Amino acid sequence: MTDVSRPRNRHPRTVPLQVLSLGLPRTGTKSMQEALLKLDFKHTYHGFDMIDHPEHMPRWEEATDAKYFKKGKPYGREEWDDLLGHCAATTDSPCALFWEELLESYPEAKVILVQRDIEKWYASFDDGVISSTWGPGTDIIVNYIEPALGVNIGRTCRKMLLGFFGASNPDEIRRNARDVYLQHYGKIRAAVPKERLLEYQLGSGWSPLCEFLGKDVPKEEFPWVNEAAALKEKIDAIKKEKFLAGAKMIAPVLAMAVAAVTYWYRR
Ligand code: A3P
Repeated sequence: MTDVSRPRNRHPRTVPLQVLSLGLPRTGTKSMQEALLKLDFKHTYHGFDMIDHPEHMPRWEEATDAKYFKKGKPYGREEWDDLLGHCAATTDSPCALFWEELLESYPEAKVILVQRDIEKWYASFDDGVISSTWGPGTDIIVNYIEPALGVNIGRTCRKMLLGFFGASNPDEIRRNARDVYLQHYGKIRAAVPKERLLEYQLGSGWSPLCEFLGKDVPKEEFPWVNEAAALKEKIDAIKKEKFLAGAKMIAPVLAMAVAAVTYWYRR
């Protein structure tokens, strides 16, 4: 459910949005974020920003409901400025899943597309994204712990993925994934004029990116982060934190229940 208590007075944009990197999750989006930050596009929004800022979630849920479930007003420039007004660039989902709206709202932004070999992408996406967004441990977090903590991160991530992949469950996402992946890149190529678009190949280093964005080439190696093991470690840490928060919440209730039962038996 959308948080209706969210203040409606919007935040103004503080920096022009100059770059939309619209490749799907598991196509090197975190490396691209680090590269863009290094090139001074501050801030560059990535999916981890959404997870690290639960206060952004009601707006992502609102945008998802409007786009994929026809509930509420679709996001336009005013709403995107409110949510992404501090950003000079974006990478990854959720932004890539709203590529049409962002292209329309920021026609002056340059566009980057990173596409991987489809089977390598699918393996990485299934293992790193679908399997961590669904599953027994995640169900407990999404259905019980997060609602009790008053956050909706897992629920919104699930809705976004189901909406984007036109699915009603994770297996259907798996079935649709390759087709939707190809359609995503095809639609963006058709929508963006060639001079505004960079097709960036992972492994090609800084030069194509810096040339496209008019920036000097940094001395450091081009980033390579968020490999499968690193993502798993991050997700495990998030889940552990959620279970601990849930345990802390129910500990006093459990203690009272134990005390009540003990008292009743000893009476
Ligand atoms: P694997 O899971 O196959 O290791 P994202 O940051 O979008 O989630 O994408 C991470 C995936 O892109 C990981 O794939 C990671 O290894 C790969 N990747 C990230 N940066 C890369 C780079 N500079 N060159 C090649 N692959 C890269």
